[in-house]
Amino acid sequence: MKIPLIDLKKQYKTIEEESNRKVLEVLKSANYIMGEHVKTFEKEFADFIGVEHGISCGNGTDALVIALKAMNIGPGDEVITSAFTFFATAESISSVGATPVFVDVEKDTFNMDPLMIEEKITARTKAIMPVHIFGQACKMDEINRIAKKHDLLVIEDACQGVGGEYKGRKIGALGDIACFSFFPTKNLGCAGDGGMIVTDREDLAVITKGLRTHGSGETGRNAYNLMNNIDEENDESDSKDQTVYNPLKYYNYLIGHNSRLDELQAAILREKLPLLDQWNQERRSNAEFYNEELADTRFTTPFENRDVMHVYHMYILQSEEREEAILHLKEKGIATGVYYPIPLHLQKAYTDLGYKEGDLPISEYLSKRTFAIPVYAELEMEEKEYIVRCLKEFDNR
Ligand SMILES: Cc1ncc(COP(=O)(O)O)c(C=O)c1O
Repeated sequence: MKIPLIDLKKQYKTIEEESNRKVLEVLKSANYIMGEHVKTFEKEFADFIGVEHGISCGNGTDALVIALKAMNIGPGDEVITSAFTFFATAESISSVGATPVFVDVEKDTFNMDPLMIEEKITARTKAIMPVHIFGQACKMDEINRIAKKHDLLVIEDACQGVGGEYKGRKIGALGDIACFSFFPTKNLGCAGDGGMIVTDREDLAVITKGLRTHGSGETGRNAYNLMNNIDEENDESDSKDQTVYNPLKYYNYLIGHNSRLDELQAAILREKLPLLDQWNQERRSNAEFYNEELADTRFTTPFENRDVMHVYHMYILQSEEREEAILHLKEKGIATGVYYPIPLHLQKAYTDLGYKEGDLPISEYLSKRTFAIPVYAELEMEEKEYIVRCLKEFDNR
């Protein structure tokens, strides 16, 4: 049996007809940039998360960069984040000229350890960037308490957590601003790159909108005015049109980005969003099956904090013999993935920051033990049983 880590073809089959129809409609309309699907999806996604504003953009990394810039974080500033995450988390901080300051993670949830944050705070610290890794929310009450005490902003890296919850509230509604990725393999993925910034803060919504499209047009001007405390009456003759036909397009107010969600991607995402809760429930039930079946093996199964609704972007096992286990599964046709083989503080790109092995022992320990097995919503029972059988076979060698 061949089982990929994620089967996007299988997912596509379940929405093929309607997606094809929507995509063709967009193609025929020739309205490819900032059309109705983008506008409506922003609203639908913000409603889904339970926040006021959704500002779509080109990908999750851009979402983080734009959010950081909107918060005026730049050279000389520090942002505290997790060492056990995808590189883009820290890369976004470096991209705006600020310095990522890495904290270690909890051994059970793999999330940033709130107990390790305060000792990292300096006069230069501007924000905390928790990452809801693998789909499980961080301990946000503790993180927000620390942020409030030290007057810091909270930017959620929610790229792996879409649909997940913390104490009954959705991931993405738990800080000042949050960033999502719609990379195809995410729980809500498009057919290419896509991203979204969400926030309840009107000021951040205005500025991120301005930054998203070259700081130009009405959105650029609104952002500029807000950032410079200019109380200018809007000229009603100006178009609110966000498309290429906007007459203000060539008036630039800020140095921004070209980072928009394509209309085609928005159409596909609108098709998928109503299915997300059901897909996440299927991931959860797959995880439950594995947890039960593997309880008596030497594999360490994932821990779920009782305050959260984990959405299992990845189902992570731990083993002392990871490489051998992965090889065994590979021989049986089962794909796995290692998330993450090198914690960020030890990445070559961050040599200059001066971290050394032993500085963040839990992240380092996990990076040698963790691996993901397939948990996607469309997995069949016989595939899950086969995966468990192969893992038990390895365990009983
Ligand atoms: C935790 C995390 N942060 C940031 C990103 C960046 O998102 P994107 O690939 O859409 O730029 C990703 C996903 O790839 C991610 O998993």
